[in-house]
Amino acid sequence: MTRRTVRIAMNGVTGRMGYRQHLVRSVLALREQGGLDLGDGTVLWPEPVLVGRREHALREIAGRHGLTEWSTDLDAVLADDTVDVYFDAQITSARVEAVRKAIAAGKHLYVEKPTATSLDGALELARLARDAGIKHGVVQDKIFLPGLLKLKRLVDGGFFGEILSVRGEFGYWVFEGDWQEAQRPSWNYRAEDGGGIVTDMFPHWEYVLHELFGRVTSVQALATTHVPRRWDEHGKPYSATADDAAYGVFQLEGGAVAQINSSWAVRVHRDELVEFQVDGTHGSAVAGLRGCRVQHRSATPKPVWNPDLPVTESFRDQWQEVPDNLAPGAEFDNGFKAQWELFLRHVVLDEPYAWDLLAGARGVQLAELGLRSSAEGRRLDVPELTL
Ligand SMILES: NC(=O)c1ccc[n+]([C@@H]2O[C@H](COP(=O)([O-])OP(=O)(O)OC[C@H]3O[C@@H](n4cnc5c(N)ncnc54)[C@H](O)[C@@H]3O)[C@@H](O)[C@H]2O)c1
Repeated sequence: MTRRTVRIAMNGVTGRMGYRQHLVRSVLALREQGGLDLGDGTVLWPEPVLVGRREHALREIAGRHGLTEWSTDLDAVLADDTVDVYFDAQITSARVEAVRKAIAAGKHLYVEKPTATSLDGALELARLARDAGIKHGVVQDKIFLPGLLKLKRLVDGGFFGEILSVRGEFGYWVFEGDWQEAQRPSWNYRAEDGGGIVTDMFPHWEYVLHELFGRVTSVQALATTHVPRRWDEHGKPYSATADDAAYGVFQLEGGAVAQINSSWAVRVHRDELVEFQVDGTHGSAVAGLRGCRVQHRSATPKPVWNPDLPVTESFRDQWQEVPDNLAPGAEFDNGFKAQWELFLRHVVLDEPYAWDLLAGARGVQLAELGLRSSAEGRRLDVPELTL
């Protein structure tokens, strides 16, 4: 086997996503498995160069994982011709400026969603990347989750017949930060810092709906801030200026209707932190992050509405678990890592890759229109984006 190195500047690795999902669970996990086998006698070996604002934090992470390269000077890293890829998992509001620089430096790009805080910014990046002729990808991790892979398998296999509707329930209680520490960063709750649940979650719903059921053609949303006062990482109170819950209705190409509740102010009475129920003429499914259950039309009970009688059947027990059906000994890989592998193959082997900056811009568009729909109190069409 020959080893081919790909050097990846990773910006934002001190953050939640940058560290755990991208550095540890993806890039370092690839190294632990011996690199990415390209199938042609070559193994691709990712070499991260950690980039960030705080030297001590970078040095600490590098030391913890036996890495030798880190820098607080993004410009210098981008000027280094041996760096092939720029990865960005910074807070959203810092993304456009850094990505613009990386495009100008001719680096291939892999970035977290949302790609920008406005559609104009997202389209600008997509156009710049196209004109520069570089390879680009955007994190769309949810479609690589076991539960959604099983759901996709059902769609592709024609299980549902005609798909009528999709109901999504996402969320959990994010602590206010006073008597128990908040489990999400405070910028998520400040609009001026690129926060808000619509900006955060609608990009995910765009590619999940698009990829599984059809492009979103209209949006109607009500975004609100249920918890207006929170406490930050230093225990200081602040006003939550961004939405922390959004109730959205989406029409899809093909005729299905999706309705998704997203909330950081809800307590979980579900099996998973996100669940999608899909109802079709021939069957229904409920998929979470990992699991997926189905009920075929032939096994659908016939409940009769009668509030005078106690419930006589256990509705949850009437569903059947969809098996993993993987090769013996195989497991579902981490979704972020699975997407990294496809992106790296795209970079070095020129394999097709659909989740690019234009796809990322569609997510930003849906978030922007969702917020506008909420502010104006009306349903808005979602025009198809082109560059
Ligand atoms: N794909 C997903 O499922 C998913 C989930 C959560 C967050 N995200 C995205 O990942 C990105 C990072 O989110 P996170 O939750 O890891 O955030 P975080 O606050 O934990 O990390 C933010 C990172 O950006 C850096 N940074 C750069 N400029 C900054 C500034 N001015 N202020 C504060 N931090 C700054 C921080 O040092 C840190 O490394 C966001 O764009 C977010 O939308 C994606």
